[in-house]
Amino acid sequence: MSDSKAPIPPLLLVGCGRMGQAMLAGWNKDGLAPSWIVDPETELPKASQHRIARSAGDVPATFQPAAVILAIKPQVAEQAMRALSARIGNAVVLSIMAGRTLSGLREALPNAGGLVRAMPNTPAAIGRGVSVAVADRNTSASHRALCDRLLRAAGTVEWVEDEAQLDAVTAVSGSGPAYVFLLAELLEKAAMTQGLPPSLARTLARETVAGAGALLAAWPDQDAATLRRNVTSPNGTTQAALEVLMREENWPDATEKAIDAATRRSRELAS
Ligand SMILES: NC(=O)c1ccc[n+]([C@@H]2O[C@H](COP(=O)([O-])OP(=O)(O)OC[C@H]3O[C@@H](n4cnc5c(N)ncnc54)[C@H](OP(=O)(O)O)[C@@H]3O)[C@@H](O)[C@H]2O)c1
Repeated sequence: MSDSKAPIPPLLLVGCGRMGQAMLAGWNKDGLAPSWIVDPETELPKASQHRIARSAGDVPATFQPAAVILAIKPQVAEQAMRALSARIGNAVVLSIMAGRTLSGLREALPNAGGLVRAMPNTPAAIGRGVSVAVADRNTSASHRALCDRLLRAAGTVEWVEDEAQLDAVTAVSGSGPAYVFLLAELLEKAAMTQGLPPSLARTLARETVAGAGALLAAWPDQDAATLRRNVTSPNGTTQAALEVLMREENWPDATEKAIDAATRRSRELAS
């Protein structure tokens, strides 16, 4: 979508916590031009070519970023966006804040050159996230391409045209890593119930979840159901477990209900 060989133009990153730092690390690897970062506490390494400001008002008015990335918690967004609204110039605003809609962002930042809302997830910390993005109507193709490149530094990127789909996206991939961590927790607990020592139970649970995830990533042409069937011998141990898990009232029903609850909660929280 964009020329990934060219350096990334100067950015204004607002909020350098878990997500902001993960994305910044990816952009630095990709050749980010000297940029400004706004965060009340984060420190940059001494050798960094970027500058840090404790609030948006401290960024020099002469600094013209190509994109402003909002990686702050939604609860502090109003104050931060007020401080930013006069400084955005023609930049595109890329917000990764959960629940902040394009219309709410446009209201707070009426002069933004373009607006993109994205939902990443925590594996972004190791460049293995998946983000889903949606742009408002006033966003140019070049602004969209820049945001695509910025998000790609944290992993896979998908675009949707219908913003309403971001509620289900939030439920599936935004919150999804927590469900996988829960699976690792439950496997570890069940292993101990069967008498395995805690450290072995932990290693088996973690490595099984991580290894199965790595197989899904390594073999994209094989769907999950095929991989599952391939390890299920007739009347074997896996089948004995799957007959319990796949009973309609067990995993299938719990998963549908969980994703439905998260999607509804995402709709309730939107502003
Ligand atoms: N983590 C996820 O899995 C995930 C997934 C999808 C989307 N998101 C979204 O990503 C955003 C950031 O999440 P996160 O997990 O990275 O949160 P985080 O670790 O709390 O990072 C937010 C950072 O913003 C700083 N900050 C607070 N007020 C600020 C202000 N006025 N101006 C500039 N910086 C300010 C915070 O500093 P202090 O700590 O000193 O307050 C903190 O360093 C959230 O909106 C969240 O909805 C997160």
